[in-house]
Amino acid sequence: MKIAVRYQSRGGNTRAVAEIIAEDLGLKAESINEPLAEKVDILFLGGGVYKWDIDPQLKEYLEKLDSNKIGQIVAFSTTGGMKKAITRITEYGKKAGISVNEKQLCLKVLLQGHSALGREGGYLTEKQIAEIKKFTSDVIAGL
Ligand SMILES: Cc1cc2nc3c(=O)[nH]c(=O)nc-3n(C[C@H](O)[C@H](O)[C@H](O)COP(=O)(O)O)c2cc1C
Repeated sequence: MKIAVRYQSRGGNTRAVAEIIAEDLGLKAESINEPLAEKVDILFLGGGVYKWDIDPQLKEYLEKLDSNKIGQIVAFSTTGGMKKAITRITEYGKKAGISVNEKQLCLKVLLQGHSALGREGGYLTEKQIAEIKKFTSDVIAGL
């Protein structure tokens, strides 16, 4: 089974989550700027929430989703609280005719990674890392 991990991340939190997911799968997480080299059965796709919505780059990526290249999407996000990235990934995936796994990870990071507040992103707690690892193994077990 072919699996890939792609993320959109401004501050590093979503990238850090993507890297943990990918590492557990023996893969390399790449940003959404890295096109899929081949058709994948499962695409783990994540992004952050900024000013009540997703980053325009992620939106552009979602608008170009191709059901000939992706069998199923597994959505993940880091966020201050809003589930907007999960909602958008799900919405666009379905619109493109791609099934979206019912399991999703919406990791609340509160103020971790708010560079405007002098907080650097990408540092996850042990508890968050455990949650991400459990999510990945639950998804794989459910396939
Ligand atoms: C400029 C900015 C705006 C944000 N706006 C929101 C928001 O409207 N709602 C929310 O739930 N989280 C918001 N957040 C929190 C981010 O979703 C959270 O920090 C996320 O981890 C960012 O992902 P990244 O570090 O991968 O870029 C915002 C963060 C920043 C830096």
